[in-house]
Amino acid sequence: MKKSINIKAAIYPMPVLMVATYDENGTVDVMNAAWGTQCSSDKLVLCLSARHKTAKNLRLTGACTVALADAAHMKEADYFGIASGNDMADKFERSGLTAVKSNLVNAPVIEEFPLTMECELLEEIDGANLHCFIVKVVGTLADERILKEDGKICVHRLDALTFNQFRNKYFTTGEKAGDAWGAGKELM
Ligand SMILES: Cc1cc2nc3c(=O)[nH]c(=O)nc-3n(C[C@H](O)[C@H](O)[C@H](O)COP(=O)(O)O)c2cc1C
Repeated sequence: MKKSINIKAAIYPMPVLMVATYDENGTVDVMNAAWGTQCSSDKLVLCLSARHKTAKNLRLTGACTVALADAAHMKEADYFGIASGNDMADKFERSGLTAVKSNLVNAPVIEEFPLTMECELLEEIDGANLHCFIVKVVGTLADERILKEDGKICVHRLDALTFNQFRNKYFTTGEKAGDAWGAGKELM
């Protein structure tokens, strides 16, 4: 028996994306974004409020990096979702994290996050029902410690956070449940 519950969109899990940009003075800003995802093999969609410092920076520089927050940096990741570069000139400095400029795009790479995509802004969509930025991933940087011998990412070593919007909690990713394009084959 199903019960109709009083929530609308109910996607789970959501990512914990760290969107890093420079402002006009080269000051680093990072924001936490759960309303974002991959929308093709080399493109991401980021649903960011136009009021955020990040949105202004992204328009200005045409670039950002998008990192997956890991469990070891949950405190900093959450802080990036509470504080705004609009009100706090030293928002990034206060986090204690370190940034270096990407070799590919005009945006900072946050050293402590283990997996980072370097992105160029393709399009801002300001529709009646959606405000988002489409970015193209031009490079991806992974800490060697999260890579397996075959060069692929080990999700256990990555230890990425996910966001549970039902209870405003962070979780880490769990165990492998099965093979994609495989688990359903016996029903074919
Ligand atoms: C878990 C979490 C997820 C968030 N996801 C988004 C999001 O997807 N889009 C958005 O516009 N704001 C989101 N926010 C809010 C921004 O991160 C927050 O307003 C931040 O202060 C913006 O920083 P900025 O002004 O320095 O860019 C989220 C906050 C948290 C804590």
